Amino acid sequence: MPSRNRSPEPQQAYAAPLPCLREAAASCKACDLWKAATQTVFGEGRADATIMLVGEQPGDLEDRAGRPFVGPAGKLLDQALVEAGIDRSDVYVTNVVKHFKWSPAERGKKRIHKKPRDSEIQACRPWLDAELAVVKPKILVCLGATAAQSLLGKDFRVSRQRGQIIESPLAPHVVATVHPSSILRAQDDESRHSQMQAFIQDLKHVARFLKGDKAA
Ligand code: URA
Repeated sequence: MPSRNRSPEPQQAYAAPLPCLREAAASCKACDLWKAATQTVFGEGRADATIMLVGEQPGDLEDRAGRPFVGPAGKLLDQALVEAGIDRSDVYVTNVVKHFKWSPAERGKKRIHKKPRDSEIQACRPWLDAELAVVKPKILVCLGATAAQSLLGKDFRVSRQRGQIIESPLAPHVVATVHPSSILRAQDDESRHSQMQAFIQDLKHVARFLKGDKAA
């Protein structure tokens, strides 16, 4: 039989502060991605943020800057957050994988993004779990299929299930939407515009939900 916990409050697991986690993650070698990357790109934002956004992995510019979502996808994300009325300071931004995975372009010096393997996502998972344990966001927003499927299961389809508020042990509420880089890849201006509007609607839905409008 389990022994009785005599302390008046339930015992909480110790959560290391974000600067300690960032420092520890800087030397992470849990998979091989550190070898070709410039540095670990840890999450960024307030430790008491109510919204956590999680993407796939840092891109070329993020790898150089050491900060998540500062390249073209990040600029588009910033614009969508503004249009959705979400203050960036209420948001913690991170990725499921914290090293840039790339291969050299056939010609030129460009570094081409490569999708992370499941084993790389699993190796990186303790960092995301640690970020969640500290930040304790009210809502976790998965950006794109890699984040959504790694956190909500392989059968999750962003195309069908985007915007649905899901109960999960990861956070009181979890929701998935598209990755901002998919909007950058749109075929023409018209579809880019409509995809951006749909992305903003998903983020507005998050903002309304947090304000307590359950019908959002
Ligand atoms: N794409 C991501 O998923 N994360 C970043 O930090 C940048 C681009």
